[in-house]
Amino acid sequence: MTDLNDLQGNSKPEMRKKLFIATFGCQMNDYDSLTMSRLLHNTHKPVDTPEEADLIIINTCSIREKAENKLYSLAGRYRHLKEINPDLKIAITGCVAQQEGARLLDRMPYVDIVLGPQGIYRLPSIVNQAGEKPGRICINELDPTFSIPLVRAHTAPPDQVRASITIMQGCDNFCTYCIVPTVRGREISRPPEDIIEEIRQAVELGAREIILLGQNVNSYGKKAGGRTLHGHPGFAELLEMVDSIRGVERLRFTTSHPRDLDYATARCFGTLRSLCEHIHLPVQSGATPVLKRMNRHYSRQEYLDKVSMLKSECPEITITTDLIVGFPGETERDFEQTVSLLEEIRYDQLFVFKYSPRPGTPASRFPDQIPEEVKTRRIETVLKIQEKIGLEQYARFEDTDVEILVESHGKEGSGDMQGRTRGNHVVHFPGTSDLLGKLVTVRIERACKHSLRGRLTACRANGSDAAENPVQPAI
Ligand code: SAH
Ligand code: SF4
Ligand code: F3S
Repeated sequence: MTDLNDLQGNSKPEMRKKLFIATFGCQMNDYDSLTMSRLLHNTHKPVDTPEEADLIIINTCSIREKAENKLYSLAGRYRHLKEINPDLKIAITGCVAQQEGARLLDRMPYVDIVLGPQGIYRLPSIVNQAGEKPGRICINELDPTFSIPLVRAHTAPPDQVRASITIMQGCDNFCTYCIVPTVRGREISRPPEDIIEEIRQAVELGAREIILLGQNVNSYGKKAGGRTLHGHPGFAELLEMVDSIRGVERLRFTTSHPRDLDYATARCFGTLRSLCEHIHLPVQSGATPVLKRMNRHYSRQEYLDKVSMLKSECPEITITTDLIVGFPGETERDFEQTVSLLEEIRYDQLFVFKYSPRPGTPASRFPDQIPEEVKTRRIETVLKIQEKIGLEQYARFEDTDVEILVESHGKEGSGDMQGRTRGNHVVHFPGTSDLLGKLVTVRIERACKHSLRGRLTACRANGSDAAENPVQPAI
């Protein structure tokens, strides 16, 4: 285990300062926020509002347009809290911090600390310089040999049923629209023993579902960073290793790159006990010429072939996707190809984005940028088509029994609990808190746009070999 844990300082719990983290962006940032709160565990107690905090961290994302402007206005609001608490420190972390570095300190004199995704591991030594007032600091160099340290998990977030574990950092794909390789650096896989240890800790703290995270999980272990005592496990072997950990009831991963999705991984969907029958497989466009300009390294047909491979290994698999409309040069014919792909595959869910030029990416310099009104029309068309397909897809569950892992409470005051099917469909049903973390059976009564509604019919104790216990249906 890394020395980082010794740097955390050692305040008595009641002496701890207060930490507020605002998190934006993808699950990698969620993971980094949790890591930061763990790194500061001994000296800082997480709180729910910025007004209470002695340290505010804004963990930023640069993937969408105007990300920086949003950061300036949020940080500007927090700055006023310094008038009430002069000891308050404001830190900016994440992808905008990586990209803009010291410029953020110049632009916002009230910001104390700027740390890129690799720099966050230095937080304890920066924040806990006992008695000394640290100067303003920026760490945003990207070390190509950096490896994600293993940070001790003291406590889990309250009622944590699912735990996300980063298995690799960075991305080497350079899709022409994407800022991620610039801000997260080159792809490096974590050693499997660190991943396994982190999963064991999460399970000990109550997690039942494990989500393996990376920008391109299918290329796990392909580069030297994955080299370990165990040799070079590929992604499918890693899945097998995680599947064999006691206490992992469900296993998921995100995100897959269609080019790197191989047969060994597709096979795991049909063979591994815990691996849930769901894959998020971003297509981005249904037109081969657009995919080529996006530098995605697969054609429409190759993508369809990967979907067929998945379905032949696991006929009940749920497929979801990401899509970009209005990529430079996207013609009406290209867009029709995307629409026909949606109709052919019939995704259960999709996330669609209007193309947004990101500074420094190749596509931002491509000719034939698409006018905003065309992007709007195309995104609306996609949303309308998907609404119909999604509803039809969800309707297949009506009057059937599905197995749910209960994850959280539903809307406040609703008396509902919320969970997911193995296919990742959100399910609401009337229930009580004691069901949290349990596998239950729910009879689906109604399909909605993005979720299902039902009633509890059976519940089983935790542990994959536990017997099924019938329960009274909730009233
Ligand atoms: N590594 C993942 C996710 C990357 S970011 C992958 O390859 O799929 C999540 C999604 O944001 C992408 O799948 C893409 O659909 C969208 N996205 C990324 N950059 C974008 C841009 N410049 N404009 C619009 N959407 C973008
Ligand atoms: Fe971005 Fe492409 Fe890497 Fe995903 S695979 S993070 S879209 S460059
Ligand atoms: Fe955003 Fe960085 Fe994730 S740009 S999507 S937070 S990797």
